[in-house]
Amino acid sequence: MSNAIERLTNITASISLPTSNSNQIMSQPIDNEIKGKLALVTGASGGIGAACARDLWANGASLAITYNSNKAPADDLRTELLKSSDAGTRKISVHQCDVAKPGELERLYAELASEHGQKGADIAVVNAGFGKRITNILEIGLDDWDYTMDVNLRSSFVLTKLAVPHMLERGWGRVVYISSIAAQGTSINGCHYSASKAGVQGMCKNLAAKMGKTGITFNDVAPAMITETGMIRDEEMLKGTPGDVKNIPVGRSGRPQECANVVTMLCRTGYMTGQSITISGGLK
Ligand SMILES: NC(=O)c1ccc[n+]([C@@H]2O[C@H](COP(=O)([O-])OP(=O)(O)OC[C@H]3O[C@@H](n4cnc5c(N)ncnc54)[C@H](OP(=O)(O)O)[C@@H]3O)[C@@H](O)[C@H]2O)c1
Repeated sequence: MSNAIERLTNITASISLPTSNSNQIMSQPIDNEIKGKLALVTGASGGIGAACARDLWANGASLAITYNSNKAPADDLRTELLKSSDAGTRKISVHQCDVAKPGELERLYAELASEHGQKGADIAVVNAGFGKRITNILEIGLDDWDYTMDVNLRSSFVLTKLAVPHMLERGWGRVVYISSIAAQGTSINGCHYSASKAGVQGMCKNLAAKMGKTGITFNDVAPAMITETGMIRDEEMLKGTPGDVKNIPVGRSGRPQECANVVTMLCRTGYMTGQSITISGGLK
């Protein structure tokens, strides 16, 4: 076990959760306010992450946003949002973090705590993701499999372990994973990508069932064919693939803001947990 993971295991192992079959009736207060909460959005240098950060900010949250290799879009987003008339005393911190590298998410959490003066985020949008388009299993190397799993699935688990203790202390939390329609099989990518996103969906549903009484909700948003992103620049890139707009019932690709709308809705709706919401223009 690496030192980083060992530390992470030690930090969280002592926290006990209410059991899902407990006879004790725990009445949770209804609190769907995100104004004044701190939202962590990973991969906010990209299309969907930036839209989620913008929308949570517009709804009154402070932000901790991350990038991996593209610093400028994250810095520009911070500058843009801080200019808004209702910025007030809210903060936006920008963090470099390669979610696939051991210890980086722990460092991110330490930075977040020192910059925002609280142990963790109240909202975690687990969005950073990787998808190298290789569709033929015979061409998918073990290194492609491992890296895709590390970025999309393993890091989602590690980040959730880091996020949960603060949320448990507050008795309030929202975790939203950005999965993919690929989890169901339809994909312009290969089985490695589908497996990583299906893993996220399974983990999310398990956590929602096990932690329902804690005040933390776990949901995932499963987009398909969202253009104006690093993954899919425009509809031209979809031509001849299962995501070709001629196969999409609404006849167009989706936009990052449409994903952000659903993420914010999930953050504001504590009665929803364990749900996977597909945003695909009707594509199955
Ligand atoms: N676009 C779609 O149609 C679509 C469909 C289904 C699911 N998704 C999911 O949506 C999420 C966002 O993707 P997007 O469409 O917005 O594409 P994008 O614009 O390329 O954004 C990807 C983001 O993930 C970050 N990232 C990649 N590898 C990373 C790593 N090792 N460590 C930390 N961050 C990393 C990127 O950071 P840097 O750019 O700074 O390196 C970037 O901010 C991903 O999880 C993706 O799988 C997208």
